[in-house]
Amino acid sequence: MGDYSLEVHGCHTYDSTGAISQPIYLSATYRHPGFGQSTGYDYGRVANPTRDKLEQTVAELERGQRCWALSSGMAAINLIIHSFSPGDHILLSEDLYGGTVRIANDIYSLYGLEFEYVDTSDNELVAKHIRPNTKGIFIETPSNPMMLISDIAALANLAHKNNAILIVDNTFLSPHFQKPLALGADVVVHSGTKYLCGHNDIIAGFIILKDKDTPLCQKLELLVKSEGPNLSPMDAWLMLRSLKTLGLRVERQAENALAMAKWLREQPQVTEVFYVGLPDHPGYALQQKQATGNGSMISFKVTSPELAKAVLGRLKLIAFAESLGGVESLLTYPIAQTHAEMPKEMLAKTGLDDKLLRFSVGIEDLEDLIADLKQALNG
Ligand SMILES: Cc1ncc(COP(=O)(O)O)c(C=O)c1O
Repeated sequence: MGDYSLEVHGCHTYDSTGAISQPIYLSATYRHPGFGQSTGYDYGRVANPTRDKLEQTVAELERGQRCWALSSGMAAINLIIHSFSPGDHILLSEDLYGGTVRIANDIYSLYGLEFEYVDTSDNELVAKHIRPNTKGIFIETPSNPMMLISDIAALANLAHKNNAILIVDNTFLSPHFQKPLALGADVVVHSGTKYLCGHNDIIAGFIILKDKDTPLCQKLELLVKSEGPNLSPMDAWLMLRSLKTLGLRVERQAENALAMAKWLREQPQVTEVFYVGLPDHPGYALQQKQATGNGSMISFKVTSPELAKAVLGRLKLIAFAESLGGVESLLTYPIAQTHAEMPKEMLAKTGLDDKLLRFSVGIEDLEDLIADLKQALNG
């Protein structure tokens, strides 16, 4: 099935009523027909029919064999990091979501896991940092917020040669534009809160595995069952509804983003624009090879920190808010919001400073977005 058809129909099967919209099963527990018998559903933490449909749909969209729908993107990242053992070494992109750095440095490093940050857009550099105990490489591509592109196929090869796994946070592109598992990655994680939801009304996360007959899958089954981080049935249903328009939304957002990136470049108050859809972006060629679209995340620098803050205060249509991926355009100030707790040395290395703004482009009329940013930049 093509992506649009899969997004609309998912793994929907019709029940006896013929309901087109997937029914929501709220029941926390299930009646057994008799001793030793089960309908396939026993208790809601372990399995729920609505959540099952969502998990099957997202697994198919990502070309994976097993998916868990979870209560947040951080729940997904927590689980995958938790699946490693004390003494394991994990390499991570040095430019990535601040919450991932926080959970690694402030929580799991206390339990004996070793984390090291490296520029994963440089394959040779990553190879040099592999150690005998390296068990995982965790990347974001495009990375948050500097939009660096890492080579998924090459890093999957490198990981496998060294008995490690490649984990890709695919939040910024969604499976509509990028399918890391088909390129060789072992695990995809998502903040479902972003493009998969698309309307800023669900906090959700996903883990998708390429293979289900693996010790990693068994470990995650155990962790999910024991820790109970699952998505609620209501949110699972709302997410299924969101997915129906995933392709339409992200295509339109990417169209707007390319036009906005070109426009931003022409503005005297803007000194740098980071958008992977611009042909002179250093990762452009690789991006066109490994993805079918460029997404709608743009970062840009303005002439001074004072101007960056003033722009945020003057916005009328675009909202000054954290998060991304929704149909509503948002402008974020990473240094004070999403990346506020990042170690200073990491920020200095990646170039994330107080002049950088991150723009999640929505589906509004282009002229309105331009008019709003124009008045915000000019004061
Ligand atoms: C790339 C990325 N991954 C993971 C997360 C965490 O997701 P959530 O906020 O749904 O827990 C975020 C949140 O902003 C993100 O941007």
